[in-house]
Amino acid sequence: MQVSDAAQRCLADLLKSQTGQDFPAARGWRIGTALSGLFREHGIASLDHLVAKLGLSRHSPLAREVVEALLNNETYFFRDRAVFDLLANKVIPDLAERRASTRQLSIWSVGCSTGQEALSLAMLFAEREARWHGWTIRILGTDVSQSMVDAARSACYTPFQIQRGLAVGQMVQFFDETPQGWRAQDRLRQMVRFELHNILDPLPPSVSASTTFDLILCRNVLLYFDDATRARAFERLGTALATDGCMILGAGETTIGQTDLIAPDRGVPSLYRHAAHADVRRTAAG
Ligand SMILES: C[S@@+](CC[C@H](N)C(=O)[O-])C[C@H]1O[C@@H](n2cnc3c(N)ncnc32)[C@H](O)[C@@H]1O
Repeated sequence: MQVSDAAQRCLADLLKSQTGQDFPAARGWRIGTALSGLFREHGIASLDHLVAKLGLSRHSPLAREVVEALLNNETYFFRDRAVFDLLANKVIPDLAERRASTRQLSIWSVGCSTGQEALSLAMLFAEREARWHGWTIRILGTDVSQSMVDAARSACYTPFQIQRGLAVGQMVQFFDETPQGWRAQDRLRQMVRFELHNILDPLPPSVSASTTFDLILCRNVLLYFDDATRARAFERLGTALATDGCMILGAGETTIGQTDLIAPDRGVPSLYRHAAHADVRRTAAG
């Protein structure tokens, strides 16, 4: 599909205003593929036709659908296995030691897409049921896309999705085959909750204003933010992270030079800590 510069600019502006995401010109080729289903559904003949239909409205149902179609929702279970090994073997045990008196852990999966990241975390706890007996584990998944949140809430996966990242043993241990797809069992679903939320906005009212998270995963969400937008996102994340909490970013993402609130853990790739705590560690280390 031919994509004129003007049409691409119009769609990129729409995406940015709703989600903060840039749509670099080099990814223009993706527009046709991403919007082909929407064109069919609405009988739209061309991008110019779509842009004319959108008019000036940024909040119409059609504008919403366009934004959702342009977002990159790629995810799968246990994406980047090394990160989940780090969580299971180091980060979560350390956090648990610090929360031994309350026996509560709050975790936030930012840009959760269809929920596989949050459910992978839930599986880490469910795999060691006896260890976590008596603990309250709360995992919040949020995404700016309503269709992703709806899919995550259904906790149902196609045969293709369920096989991506899960061993057959985990599949049958934690999911049931239903006519709608492979559905996560109650013991996972009772740990996770999914909400519509833009990382650039304050947390949704359903999350208590005093909530801070012991662990935040924000992977593959900030890649297409410009520097100023990423700084705003880090501001939100830094405020939501417990001062002794940990954060995980995706490979190729960093806080260095972007925020003073969250600092990399020396020597452990992808792991970040609240700067207040990192300072304490630095001072303690002399
Ligand atoms: C590439 S997926 C990554 C999913 C998961 N974190 C992972 O790494 O497997 C990025 C997700 O971030 C969401 N997203 C994009 N902009 C966002 C924003 N401003 N606030 C919250 N979520 C956003 C997208 O809708 C998409 O589902």
